[in-house]
Amino acid sequence: MKIMSIVGARPQFVKLAPIARAAAQANVDHMIVHTGQHYDPLLSDVFFSDLGIPAPDVHLNIGSGSHAQQTGMMLQALEPVIQDAHPDWVLVYGDTNSTLAGALAAVKIHQNVAHLEAGLRSFNRAMPEEINRVLTDHASDLLLAPTRVAMRHLADEGLAERSVEVGDVMTDVLFAVQHRVQEGRTPNPIADEFGFTPQQYALATIHRAENTDDPVRLRSIVDALARVPLPVVVLAHPRLRAKAHDAGIDLNVGSIRLHDALPYPQLIAAAMQSAHIVTDSGGLQKEAFLLRIPTTTVRPQTEWVETVELGWNRLVEPEGLVESVTRQAPPAVSDTPYGTGDAARRVVSVLIDRA
Ligand code: UD1
Repeated sequence: MKIMSIVGARPQFVKLAPIARAAAQANVDHMIVHTGQHYDPLLSDVFFSDLGIPAPDVHLNIGSGSHAQQTGMMLQALEPVIQDAHPDWVLVYGDTNSTLAGALAAVKIHQNVAHLEAGLRSFNRAMPEEINRVLTDHASDLLLAPTRVAMRHLADEGLAERSVEVGDVMTDVLFAVQHRVQEGRTPNPIADEFGFTPQQYALATIHRAENTDDPVRLRSIVDALARVPLPVVVLAHPRLRAKAHDAGIDLNVGSIRLHDALPYPQLIAAAMQSAHIVTDSGGLQKEAFLLRIPTTTVRPQTEWVETVELGWNRLVEPEGLVESVTRQAPPAVSDTPYGTGDAARRVVSVLIDRA
């Protein structure tokens, strides 16, 4: 039994960690192919080392480019790799260009493809991720859905027979890392570097193309963050720095304290002591919910609707950001819409059963 994981971007490395562990525990031959979509050490290498992921068996070094260039180069490079390895399952993760390329390359040569994190929808077709996830779901043979809502979306699109609800693998990682932080094994670098005490600061990440690539929108987000009445530590994805620079927008203004992106365990340590999280990241919205940190999401929709329905996440336009960040914390909830931390084991067992 051989599984080939195809990954390339930061959130996929987080999802890969528990799968690699579960595959090893089940004695499954697990091969890792890295497309090279993310190549900065802070977006890639640190995730492999910190989360104990084995080094990729194959690295394609594709790098950045337009959507067509990047996806096209990946397709071309992946085909012979999949053909040579001939795995029982090609496993693709999430909604990036690496996901779509992996699914398409594999299905066209009649290899079984499983999509992890299937069925998420924002219903916003302007997002490249929405196109990637819809096409990947429809191309795949097995759809591994994280939530009941995702299962419903798949059924609505006629894909129920190929779908299995397995829970959310990011929850597996989050619980393990939260435990490490609570044991004092991962200090909070933000508290150390800025001298903050717990709850004294908000944490922010903004990197989505819809927010960074329009200079008017980016400026209004930065202006709003600068007006928040407590320090806002912005963990800057390279895309944010590059787009702000191109548009002549100063990121070091008002309440903003600029910081490089953090490795995963340090991010969770910093999140756990923050008073609030502002983000446009899917993963961080969910992590904040699991840690019960009130969150403001600068997007018109979210795929993780449970975080909003249960009161911990609010979707805003830049004009509503300050008010949302200063709102009261919501009432406690004990719901577990993302599972209980054993999703990766279930994924591997479904793959073994259906190989
Ligand atoms: C990608 C995913 C997005 C995910 C995000 C996580 C797609 C369409 N989007 O967006 O869903 O949330 O990863 O971070 O696949 N860059 C670097 N160093 C790197 C990688 C990128 O500086 O290692 C810069 C380059 O200027 C590049 C830009 O970031 O052009 C965008 O990178 P890209 O891989 O196209 O998408 P992300 O914005 O990272």
